[in-house]
Amino acid sequence: MAEIQVDVQARRFQERIDAEVRIEPKDWMPDAYRKTLIRQISQHAHSEIIGMQPEGGWITRAPSLRRKLILLSKVQDEGGHGLYLYSAAETLGASRASMIDALHSGRAKYSSIFNYPALTWADIGAIGWLVDSAAIVNQVPLQRCSFGPYARAMVRICKEESFHQRQGYEIMYTLATGSADQKAMAQDALNRWWWPSLMMFGPSDADSAHSSQSMAWKIKRFSNDELRQKFIDQAVPQADILGLEVPDTELAWDEQTQHYRYGAIDWDEFNRVVRGDGPCNRQRLAEHKRVHEAGAWVREAVVAYDRKHQDQSDV
Ligand code: 3HC
Repeated sequence: MAEIQVDVQARRFQERIDAEVRIEPKDWMPDAYRKTLIRQISQHAHSEIIGMQPEGGWITRAPSLRRKLILLSKVQDEGGHGLYLYSAAETLGASRASMIDALHSGRAKYSSIFNYPALTWADIGAIGWLVDSAAIVNQVPLQRCSFGPYARAMVRICKEESFHQRQGYEIMYTLATGSADQKAMAQDALNRWWWPSLMMFGPSDADSAHSSQSMAWKIKRFSNDELRQKFIDQAVPQADILGLEVPDTELAWDEQTQHYRYGAIDWDEFNRVVRGDGPCNRQRLAEHKRVHEAGAWVREAVVAYDRKHQDQSDV
């Protein structure tokens, strides 16, 4: 009897998904739907928080007070994005401690892009321009994700990402139209961040383990390759305006498809970085662990305060 009931619930669930009815935390959902959402949302949150490191390291080295204020604001936004996303994952029953433990133990991932070093000030421009553009291309469709809390978190996050992208592109424009050395610094940053930005969209559709199910459940609205292509089609003209060259000798506009054809992505590099052997993987995780431990007293104080005031209100 119980099996038939679950089948009926699963069929009703898919009918709601197909009818574009938002799924809320208290609604019945297949365990696998819950599990893949906790996986994706928590890894999205980890990415936001770890992503604060490469940019945070440049706040004290920003070339002007204005740039420092903008970068401070952006890094603070990323921290807030992480907290929204952890909260969205918690509505599915995942605890913050278990998600952080999964990150620290290596069971959970974060975006490969944040395992590359930010070597010069131009990297801060390239990250804002390319990485945040890629994030926007990936996150705008997530505003229509079937799971309510995730979709709603994306609405605010996407608004803030557009400021992130614009400040990055402004840095690149300033450098690309500055001295020859500044333009060379901008080109060097584009050379190092272009291909890792394409890898942000995940493996090719043929190698994507989750895409077909995530698209059937309307978590994902477009495939990895569709979003990657959308990003390339918008970023190449932006590079042209900067007078910078995209580091892909096979890049060419295809009149027939109305898309850019592009060269082969180095999937060995992608898999190496995702496996933990990227330029900064160990440093990023060690820093997250260090700061998490250093902040334990804050979490303990908040819990003690809550407990004390809870007891008082129970009196
Ligand atoms: N880095 C690390 N792991 C990646 C990856 C990447 N760039 N791309 C894919 N993977 C992992 C997946 O997590 C999955 O592993 P898992 O089963 O252990 O979770 C495996 O590779 C197979 O990939 P799939 O395509 O099958 O996985 P998904 O269907 O989950 O698609 C995704 C991957 C497109 C990243 C999707 O998870 C997604 O859209 N996530 C939400 C957006 C996100 O996380 N963005 C990360 C950047 S956040 C950011 O840029 C912040 C901005 O403010 C700068």
